[in-house]
Amino acid sequence: MLTAITRQVSPTINQCELSFHARQPIEVAKAIAQHEAYQQCLAELGVHIVSLPAEPDLPDAVFVEDPAVVVEEVAVISVMGAPSRRPEAKSLAHALSRYRPIRFLTEPATLDGGDVMRIGRTVFVGSSKRTNREGIAQLSDILRPYDYQVNPVAVTGCLHLKSACSYVGNNTILINRVWIDARPLLTFELIDVPEEEPAAANAVLVKDVVVLPQSFPHTRALLELRGFRVTTIDVSELQKAEAGVTCTSLIFDDLGTQASLPASLS
Ligand code: GLY
Repeated sequence: MLTAITRQVSPTINQCELSFHARQPIEVAKAIAQHEAYQQCLAELGVHIVSLPAEPDLPDAVFVEDPAVVVEEVAVISVMGAPSRRPEAKSLAHALSRYRPIRFLTEPATLDGGDVMRIGRTVFVGSSKRTNREGIAQLSDILRPYDYQVNPVAVTGCLHLKSACSYVGNNTILINRVWIDARPLLTFELIDVPEEEPAAANAVLVKDVVVLPQSFPHTRALLELRGFRVTTIDVSELQKAEAGVTCTSLIFDDLGTQASLPASLS
């Protein structure tokens, strides 16, 4: 069954990390309501939600995509690029250990899950402010025995690789080529986001439905014109925390196997 780990919005989200965005006040109650609606949207698409409690001392902890990379065979717990976010990993590893064997990246590696876009057995990883060469190399070493090929992609104009591109199904990537070096992705069909919606390339594909922020109507129209099924949600408060729609969930198949809990997590 398709499962999404999520985490409740931290009451301290106004202290979140920001890299490419100017700080704006976030209405916490509204962010919580939008996050609820996001979970509801996933649930209506048939995803089982596993919601973790908020981490009051970790402003960015709602962005559960970043501390881990999950494939069918294993969950890889990362060393996140922002030191303030590293304590988010422990409780997430604990939650993931119910579903997958756990592996760990180690320093000097850094890697954020937002930099990882998987398409089948190919894993594109952004070389970004948050993810370094050692992080990409360690992830590649862990995934290679399972027959995944890891390919780096240079990220220059935004926080994460998936701020600038997302797989939307049908061999197609939604993309903002201004923010990344698109050359490693040219074997796919590329749909360029409209110039007036540069942040619209972050989308979540759930089964055959593309989930997109409500603030990108032109991108929605473009996708629908190309035959994609699209649903939109309002995530305006979370967008102020430099978020999109991928980063607030970690979606994977619950394969029904009970992985053993590493001693370090028990
Ligand atoms: N505010 C999300 C991040 O910087 O990781």
